[in-house]
Amino acid sequence: MPDLRFEFTLYCKKDDKGRLKTRNENTMNPLITDFQTPQQRTPVIVALDFANEKDTLGFVRNLDPALCQIKIGKELFTATGRNLAESLINQGFKLFLDLKYHDIPHTVAQACKVAADMGVWMVDMHASGGRRMMEAAAEAVAGYQTKPLLIGVTVLTSMEQSDLAEIGLNIAPEEQVIRLAKLAQSSGLDGVVCSAQEAAPLRRELGQDFVLVTPGIRLDVAGNNDDQRRIMTPAEALAAGSTYLVMGRPVTQAADPVAVLREVNRVANA
Ligand code: C5P
Repeated sequence: MPDLRFEFTLYCKKDDKGRLKTRNENTMNPLITDFQTPQQRTPVIVALDFANEKDTLGFVRNLDPALCQIKIGKELFTATGRNLAESLINQGFKLFLDLKYHDIPHTVAQACKVAADMGVWMVDMHASGGRRMMEAAAEAVAGYQTKPLLIGVTVLTSMEQSDLAEIGLNIAPEEQVIRLAKLAQSSGLDGVVCSAQEAAPLRRELGQDFVLVTPGIRLDVAGNNDDQRRIMTPAEALAAGSTYLVMGRPVTQAADPVAVLREVNRVANA
């Protein structure tokens, strides 16, 4: 039995956003009899902020890897470890392992290699760990055929100017974000996590290919924002230059999570 997905990929080329595009009707792969529309872009990374495996799997059962990427953070990973992460990857989901590494270069590089071995799609580290740490991480995964996207955390959105001053940084948060994002880029990382409000200046400074991952997304900015302060709608964040939208509660606590994902994907592909 031929691998139809592989055959299909061979028969397609990618457009400027990396999406598969058919060459033309006449040269369509004859193995594909049930051809549907070319794959749509899904910018959403659903934050699986659940406390245990049972709740996570109960929620994920309704999702489809074509609708979203998923993210596991420190709470769920500490509770469930590698097994749940691998089982979700085996279900076909692209997994963002959001463990925000920050350690000596060797330790972070080894952790990134383990993530790559697991088949993780995206992994992050604090850019304030410095150039040698980020370069070691980039070098550690460079040889993988499918290497994870390496993402730098700049300034936590929970920190404001007074917090930076207390750790000896007399600089505006946005200035520090741009400084660390430039350092991350020149150290070989693929992108950064930032607030959607910082996406436009970062896109200008760092170019079109640098990945911007933005949390703090709300469907209705006038509605319930939970504990997020600097929020944007999906359309606003994408227009500002976000590549991926991290969405937790607006999806996980929605009456119909799949309908929310379909709507965001519709906006992203409009
Ligand atoms: O529920 P909500 O959409 O606010 O979830 C946002 C997710 O993004 C959470 O998993 C949170 O930990 C994460 N995050 C964030 N702000 C950052 C980095 C990550 O909200 N600066």
